[in-house]
Amino acid sequence: QPDLPLQGKKVLVTAGGTVERLDPVRYLSNDSSGKMGYAVAEEARGMGAEVVLISAPSSLPRPEGVEFVPVVSALDMLSAVMERLKDVDIVIKAAAVADYRPAEASPVKIKKKDEEMTIRLVKNPDILQQIGERKTKQYVIGFAAETNDLEANGLDKLRRKNCDLMVANDVTLEGAGFGTDTNIVTLLDKDGNVERLPILSKREVARHLLKLAAERLPSAGGER
Ligand code: PMT
Repeated sequence: QPDLPLQGKKVLVTAGGTVERLDPVRYLSNDSSGKMGYAVAEEARGMGAEVVLISAPSSLPRPEGVEFVPVVSALDMLSAVMERLKDVDIVIKAAAVADYRPAEASPVKIKKKDEEMTIRLVKNPDILQQIGERKTKQYVIGFAAETNDLEANGLDKLRRKNCDLMVANDVTLEGAGFGTDTNIVTLLDKDGNVERLPILSKREVARHLLKLAAERLPSAGGER
């Protein structure tokens, strides 16, 4: 069906910025609002897909008609994604996942003491990289949030994380990246194609990505 190109397909989307606890009242996180990932979830539903939205904390309203899985930390997001990976056709990782988390989360509020304090951080697992290692039929789209060398860094992440498509955004540009309703993205694929899109609403970016993914699914144009 031309208007429902994702009918019968399952799409898994991650959104928002993960929250890494330090103590009961403090945490490390980032500026992701969830808008990019929620736009993908809503467009995918509109295109006929069955959608799972795995969301780190966000103040956006929960989209209707999608399976909503709230998570907090990168470790929570990893298990929510891995549990569902084998059942889905398309994965879109718009979430901003913390690269590091505090080595310990104190069960009680940390007391003010010395003039200086050091917080030890440990590396979080790279969820997208693990998806890249385990994927079978899935079309996997990652995002790269960059402040410099957009295409070189995006390409490096595409290869390292074994994605099918990398959506690179320069988060220093006005109208792009964190918190905005629009984005300015460059699409990089495994075959070396580079597509630089103009400023678009996050919904329009989402639609573009999902159309591409629909065309490139192994079953596109034929039976599975
Ligand atoms: O939520 P908004 O306010 O709308 O903002 C949108 C956005 C800027 C968050 C979005 O457009 C975006 O760029 N998302 C990716 C942010 C990010 O974490 O980029 P990264 O370059 O650090 O990571 C690259 C990719 O690896 C991402 O798909 C990320 O989800 C994934 N990753 C990173 C680290 C990690 N430990 N696990 C991961 O899966």
